[in-house]
Amino acid sequence: TTNHLRHVESMATMPSGAGNIPHLNAIVLGEALAFEENDLIFPSDDFSRQAHVPSPGKYLEMYKRSIEDPAGFWSDIASSFYWKQKWGQQVYLENLDVRKGDIRIEWFKGGITNICYNCLDSNVEAGLGDKIALYWEGNEPGVDATLTYIQLLHNVCQLANYLKDIGVKKGDAVVVYLPMLMELPITMLACARIGAVHSVVFAGFSAESLAQRIVDCKPKVVITCNAVKRGSKVIHLKDIVDAALIESSQSGVSIDVCLTYENQLAMKKESTKWKEERDVWWQDVIPKYPTTCAVEWVDAEDPLFLLYTSGSTGKPKGVVHTTGGYMVYTATTFKYAFDYKPSDIYWCTADCGWITGHSYVTYGPLLNGASAVIFEGAPNYPNPGRCWDIVDKYQVTIFYTAPTLVRSLMRDSDEYVTRYSRKSLRVLGSVGEPINPSAWRWFFNLVGDSKCPISDTWWQTETGGFMITPLPGAWPQKPGSATFPFFGVQAVIVDEKGVEIEGECSGYLCVKSSWPGAFRTLYCDHERYETTYFKPFPGYYFSGDGCSRDKDGYHWLTGRVDDVINVSGHRIGTAEVESALVSHPQCAEAAVVGVEHEVKGQGLYAFVTLVEGVPYSEELRKSLILNVRKQIGAFAAPDKVHWAPGLPKTRSGKIMRRILRKIASRQLDELGDTSTLADPNVVDQLIALADV
Ligand code: WTA
Repeated sequence: TTNHLRHVESMATMPSGAGNIPHLNAIVLGEALAFEENDLIFPSDDFSRQAHVPSPGKYLEMYKRSIEDPAGFWSDIASSFYWKQKWGQQVYLENLDVRKGDIRIEWFKGGITNICYNCLDSNVEAGLGDKIALYWEGNEPGVDATLTYIQLLHNVCQLANYLKDIGVKKGDAVVVYLPMLMELPITMLACARIGAVHSVVFAGFSAESLAQRIVDCKPKVVITCNAVKRGSKVIHLKDIVDAALIESSQSGVSIDVCLTYENQLAMKKESTKWKEERDVWWQDVIPKYPTTCAVEWVDAEDPLFLLYTSGSTGKPKGVVHTTGGYMVYTATTFKYAFDYKPSDIYWCTADCGWITGHSYVTYGPLLNGASAVIFEGAPNYPNPGRCWDIVDKYQVTIFYTAPTLVRSLMRDSDEYVTRYSRKSLRVLGSVGEPINPSAWRWFFNLVGDSKCPISDTWWQTETGGFMITPLPGAWPQKPGSATFPFFGVQAVIVDEKGVEIEGECSGYLCVKSSWPGAFRTLYCDHERYETTYFKPFPGYYFSGDGCSRDKDGYHWLTGRVDDVINVSGHRIGTAEVESALVSHPQCAEAAVVGVEHEVKGQGLYAFVTLVEGVPYSEELRKSLILNVRKQIGAFAAPDKVHWAPGLPKTRSGKIMRRILRKIASRQLDELGDTSTLADPNVVDQLIALADV
């Protein structure tokens, strides 16, 4: 058995109720109020009794099997899905070791299926046709809509028929630039139905970022809407798409069709800029198509979607997920990590433009036949009580969000929470960055009335689904810890040399064997896939995150160890921001680091060296920030621009980011050794300009 398994075995002797642990304060759900980070919060007996995984012992039994017999464990689960044809002899095939040849991961190869069929047709056949699949809550309170499973199926089929009609075929890319309308999951499912590969671009990205993604994957069609209202702001998405399409055509990728949904509440058709030979109104064409559409059966290893994410270098990476393993993995993680039951009403606040929206707004919930809420608006509009208003309105039982949202709502009066009942809630979830214990407590005590376990799910765009997560009802929790690995996940911590370390330790978080939801490659760049993720520690998938394990075996994520920063749970590469700054004609050089931020978790702090002779000015500062907004999107705008006559560099020219981080966080007495710098005076100059 693996080290981790031995480790978990010793953990699972932990009692399933409070007490018996003299060195810790043991607290049972429902009675907590003040507790320390290291306290254990036990699920109540009532919760555990009804849970899918009611005890550490049960977790251990399942985990053990998943590690000792992955093929058996996962094929048993996969058998409950619809397969046109079963997979071949080999349930999975993997090589995670660069020393042994190309990296390769395959699950259920030879199995023929369709994820849209499993999300919709299967559930309709199982009698869920009239169950609500999606509750849509618009930006304005009182504006809402619903779709049952059968209605959703009809809508998906109409769009799928249209896409086929304009020549979209299996394997073709479709770029989607939509806000949180029901048309977004509808589009994803319609692509999946015909075997097209969707590439959803978060509708907060700029025209330039959108163009970059279009040029990379060369879609047959781009799908968008004319505008969206978020809070009191109207955002003209179609204008952004128009600009992106001009740019992409200059790079040789021209798009024949731009299907545009008229989002009437935000903007009328008449005021939308239009290009007759290219643009098509969704409402003009889609309703005319038949509401049934034959499924394109695909291999388990055929690509389902592309999703671009940030890495350490400037160019975003096109993460490729395939069909079968992703389907089985998202559905299973959803079921266990949220202890999902058919009577649940589930709400995830993530946007489908990010991986969380792919796996846990669209696919995971629908594969389970769940009723899910999707929300178009901003969580503090018209006031900071909006989320709890929505929870009460739909009687939400499972609420999944990001620490940044928790922290931003925490700043307002508790009364915005307590004026709502929230009685329906039974499980809470967190994702995107480590949740600090004080936010955890507020979420747990106030929002969940001390009775809802919090699933602090650690995972990544690359992993497809949850990797380290509490299973509510199984384990006692510690505020801020993602607890233990999900079934089938061999999470290990390695040191700088790539040697696994055991017991109480901290180091780099890696995974030792494949899991069904793993990404299979980077779009058109398998070499970068191997270099980024598998070469740093041969034999392992390297996550890019630091992690420590405490004496009880709980995992604590400590954040990225590379040049990726999590701002409000959005993943941003410092290199991307730097290249946006440097593209400004008056900027000579830039270095961006992350600093702690009260609400966003991390904020972006930019050191900027100007071209010789250019004076500092507020105007220039604004125009530099504008460059980032234009090239990436508003969410990537630096919080601070610090003028830098020079940057601290080693003699070989490498920027010493460690020093910049200390200056940015004003830990000036912790600058460390600066003698190896090419010009040590640079540091004093920077300090002198800190508040300019
Ligand atoms: C961070 C989001 C701590 C982590 C699903 C990871 C977390 C990156 C957690 C991936 C968590 C996500 N605790 N850190 N529960 N969840 N992260 O690709 O640094 O947008 O590497 O996927 O977010 O971000 P991504």
